[in-house]
Amino acid sequence: MEYNRRNFISFLGKASLGVMITPPFLIRCGNTTTPPNTENFSEENLKRLKKIVLESLAPSDKDDLLLTNGLDYHTIVKWGDKISNQDTFGFNNDFTCFIPLDENNPKDGLLWVNHEYVNPLYVSDFNYREHEDPTKHRTKEQVDKEMYDVGGSIVRIKEVNGMWEIVENDPHNRRITGKTPIELNWDTPIKGKNTVIGTLANCSGGITPWKTFITCEENYDGFFGETTYDENNVATHIPSEYYGWENFYDYPPEHYGWVVEVNPKDGKAQKHIALGRFAHECCTLYELEDKRIVAYTGDDRNNEHLYKFISSKPSSLKEGTLYVADTINGKWLALDWENQPILKRKFKNQTEVLIRAREAAKLLGATALNRPEDIEIDPITGNILVSLTNNKSKNDFHGSILKIEETHGAFDALTFKASTYIAGGEENGFSCPDNLAFDLSGNLWITSDMSGSAMNKEDKPYMPFKNNSLFVIPRYGKDAGKVIRVASAPKDAELTGPWFSPDGKTLFLSVQHPGEQTEDLDNPTSKWPFDGDNIPKPAVVAITGDLIEKMNKLNQIESNL
Ligand code: FEO
Ligand code: CA
Ligand code: CA
Ligand code: CA
Repeated sequence: MEYNRRNFISFLGKASLGVMITPPFLIRCGNTTTPPNTENFSEENLKRLKKIVLESLAPSDKDDLLLTNGLDYHTIVKWGDKISNQDTFGFNNDFTCFIPLDENNPKDGLLWVNHEYVNPLYVSDFNYREHEDPTKHRTKEQVDKEMYDVGGSIVRIKEVNGMWEIVENDPHNRRITGKTPIELNWDTPIKGKNTVIGTLANCSGGITPWKTFITCEENYDGFFGETTYDENNVATHIPSEYYGWENFYDYPPEHYGWVVEVNPKDGKAQKHIALGRFAHECCTLYELEDKRIVAYTGDDRNNEHLYKFISSKPSSLKEGTLYVADTINGKWLALDWENQPILKRKFKNQTEVLIRAREAAKLLGATALNRPEDIEIDPITGNILVSLTNNKSKNDFHGSILKIEETHGAFDALTFKASTYIAGGEENGFSCPDNLAFDLSGNLWITSDMSGSAMNKEDKPYMPFKNNSLFVIPRYGKDAGKVIRVASAPKDAELTGPWFSPDGKTLFLSVQHPGEQTEDLDNPTSKWPFDGDNIPKPAVVAITGDLIEKMNKLNQIESNL
C-alpha cells in the first residue's frame, strides 16, 4: 500500500507524504493542488469544526430528502425548468459535473447533468401499466417528447448569498437530446454513418484532463433494441422491450452504448468508439506523465466486465488499446483484433470487436462481475475502487466495492491485484453501492441504488435499509472506516451524481426518479420536491453545511489538534 502511495504521488509530481494529494484534474474539475487558503486552517476554525459530531441517520421510508445534522440543501434545477428561451431541463438527472468558467472563482461555472431515461407517465402522458406491450401503443408525438427529455443539460450556475441558482438564458445553456447529431471519433463509419443521431441512457460519466464532460450511454437497448448474433455470426434485431422508439425512427442500436464527450463551451459532442460498446456506467480518466490517457469504464449488467483503455498518443481517446479485466488472474486482456487470433477468427476487424465488445471480452476470458457501476481513483493510495452493485442471478443482493491495485501503482500496468474493499449488507449498513466520490480529504462518499420495486418490501432483503441513501466512509478520526448514512432519499428515488464544487464546500447531488412506482397521477407515491403541483420531479440539489467543511478538513483536524 505504501509503495503504491509513493508511486502515485510521484505520478502527480508531488514530493511529500502526509499531505492530502489532489490529482491535478481528477478529483474535481477546477480543483487545484493548492491547499485551501490559510484562514481555513485557523485553529479556531478547526476547533469549531472538531465539535461537529458525525451522526448517522437512521434508515427512513419518509418521502423527503433527509440530511444528517450539519447539512442543508436547496434545489438548483428540476425537470421542466426553463434554462433558456428554447430549452427546458430534462428528466431523471444522474451524473453531475461542474467546471468553473474562471479557475479563480469556484462559485460560477457550467454544470453538466445527465438525463438517463424518462418515465412516460410524467413525460409523455403514457401509462405503460395500462398496456400489455408499451412499445405498440405510443404515438410519434409521445416518442418525440421522450427523446427531448434524455441526454444531458449544460446550465451556467452561480452561488449567490450561499444559494446556487441557474443563470437563465446564459449563452452556454443548452440541451443535448435524443435527437442531437453527434460525430463518431473513428475512421470507419458505423452502420454507414460518421455522424449519428442523439445520445441516451446517460447514466454516470467523468471529466477529461482538458476539461470537457464525459457522459456514458448505459442501458441503450431499452430505446432502439439490440443486435444479437448466433453461433454462425448471423445478426438478429431484438426490439426494445419498453420505449419502442425504433417504431418511429430507424436508428441502429450500434449507434448507442458508447462513451460520449461534450465540450462545455459549445455543446459539441463526439462518441469515442475506441472505448468499446456496452452498458457504460461511467468513464474515469487518468492522465499519465507523458499525457497518455488511461480510462476505466465498467459494463453495468449481470456478469459483464470491467475495462480500461490506454492511449498510445497524448490526450487521445482514439489511438490506443482497450483491455478487459481478468480479476482472478489479475490481468488486463487486450481487445486487439490484429494480435489476438481468437478475435480474428470471430470478427472481421477492430471496429466489429469494439461494437461487440462483450462477446470479444468473453472469448478472451474476462471475468464476469456483479454489475460494475461507478469507478473512482483513491487520491491517497492510487487504488481504483469499483462499485459492484449486486447480481441477483448469483444471489448477491447487496453488492460490494472492488479494489484494484495496479502493479507498482502504475495506471498503465497490464497486471493488478483485485480484492474486496467493503461489502454491502446489514453489517455495514448499506446495500447496492452505485456512485462514488472522494472529497478533498479523501473521504469516500457512496450512493445506494436498491431498485424501487424492491425497496421497503417485507418479502425482499432490502427492508432493513429503507430508502436509498448517501453514505460517507471517513478516512480519518474516530469514525474512520465506518459507514455513516448522511442523507436519505424521497420515496422510490435514488441519489446519484455526487460531485464536489472546486472549493469542496458544495456537494452537487441528483435526486433521480422520486415517485417512480406511481401508478395513478392523482396519487403519486412521492411529491418531492414539494413545489406545489403534487407531481414528483427529478432535481439537482446543492448540499452545503459545516459537516461538508469538516469532512474536507478531517486530515487537518486530526493532525493539528
Ligand atoms: Fe444507471 Fe448503472 O446505473
Ligand atoms: Ca448508476
Ligand atoms: Ca463518481
Ligand atoms: Ca444503478
